[in-house]
Amino acid sequence: MALAALKAGVRRLLLERWRAPRVYAALCSAEARLFGRKLRLEVCSKCQLKCPTCATAHGDTRRGVVGWGDLTPENLTRLLGSAGRVRELELSNWGEIFLNPRLPELLACAESAGVPVTVTNGVNLNTASDASLEAVVRHRVRRLTVSIDGATQETYAKFRVHGNLARVLAHVDRINHFKRLHGSPYPRLRWQFIVFGHNEHEVEAARALAKARGMQFEAIRNLAADYAPVRDPSSVAARTGIDYGIPTDSVLDGLADGLGFCHQVWDAPQVNWDGELLGCCFNVSRSFGNAFETPLRTLLKGPDYLEMQRVLTGRAPLRADLPCASCRLLPRHVARH
Ligand SMILES: C[S@@+](CC[C@H](N)C(=O)[O-])C[C@H]1O[C@@H](n2cnc3c(N)ncnc32)[C@H](O)[C@@H]1O
Ligand code: SF4
Ligand code: SF4
Repeated sequence: MALAALKAGVRRLLLERWRAPRVYAALCSAEARLFGRKLRLEVCSKCQLKCPTCATAHGDTRRGVVGWGDLTPENLTRLLGSAGRVRELELSNWGEIFLNPRLPELLACAESAGVPVTVTNGVNLNTASDASLEAVVRHRVRRLTVSIDGATQETYAKFRVHGNLARVLAHVDRINHFKRLHGSPYPRLRWQFIVFGHNEHEVEAARALAKARGMQFEAIRNLAADYAPVRDPSSVAARTGIDYGIPTDSVLDGLADGLGFCHQVWDAPQVNWDGELLGCCFNVSRSFGNAFETPLRTLLKGPDYLEMQRVLTGRAPLRADLPCASCRLLPRHVARH
């Protein structure tokens, strides 16, 4: 924890204040050599639900560089063989990892390579084989976030269109069963509840359902401000800690200016299920080379990749061929050409 705070401080200093992208990149590669690097890898970009604000549901990711597919264990082995030491591997990005039928093999492969896995971004957990539910326990996935925005089926399915709350909760219970069976604290489970106008009255009921299952509960802000805004912000704020005094646009500006997601380009690069290096989790438009074919450390020094780092720190003007050109999270100090 203290190390993470130290790193965030160094990052702020080097990227935001001094705007020294190369120094931070050198620091990240030294850190990767000494302690291993953080990596983000999409296990499955497909999804079976149709959440109204989601780019996956709208087909935007499928039409772009992310596409629609599954990571294979063979490619995971190839990547881990050439990526150097990986100290944390996050497996969720735009899709639903449990739809990958080879998830148990993938988790076994990461574990045998000594790579700790997290699924912090989220799963909807509507569809899961018993083998997959056991595999997240058996292979010691460290953290698993389950996206559940309601405490009753009627409310839940308003956003999680085609979703079935009873099935999700049965899957959580099954994971807990396997945790008891294997005597394991992993995965640590987190219930993530996006607060909308249609579900704000169910926050407490959801919190109780989470507690009964040993899950950490977190209510988060809906980042799509136009969709189902909360009706009683002061009551929701008091019950969740979300500060509705700050408009969503300002929250997004703050994230953008603080390189809230852009920092992944340096310290937790995103790789797509088919090996394409995306850099950050928001890039849906272009690749920076294939990490199954070329070692990651080579791709991270590619000319366009380095140019993106210069752009993000205000050292070069924005180029139209970079994913940042159409991204809401572009820092406002970046000069548009
Ligand atoms: C694109 S989803 C992919 C992972 C998985 N399918 C899921 O829904 O958890 C990534 C994350 O975005 C969250 N998300 C989707 N719509 C959102 C919104 N309007 N505001 C905030 N978070 C949102 C999801 O709950 C999830 O945590
Ligand atoms: S479950 Fe996740 S990926 Fe699927 S549509 Fe909803 S937010 Fe998008
Ligand atoms: S501005 Fe660029 S690096 Fe930052 S989140 Fe958007 S696409 Fe990613």
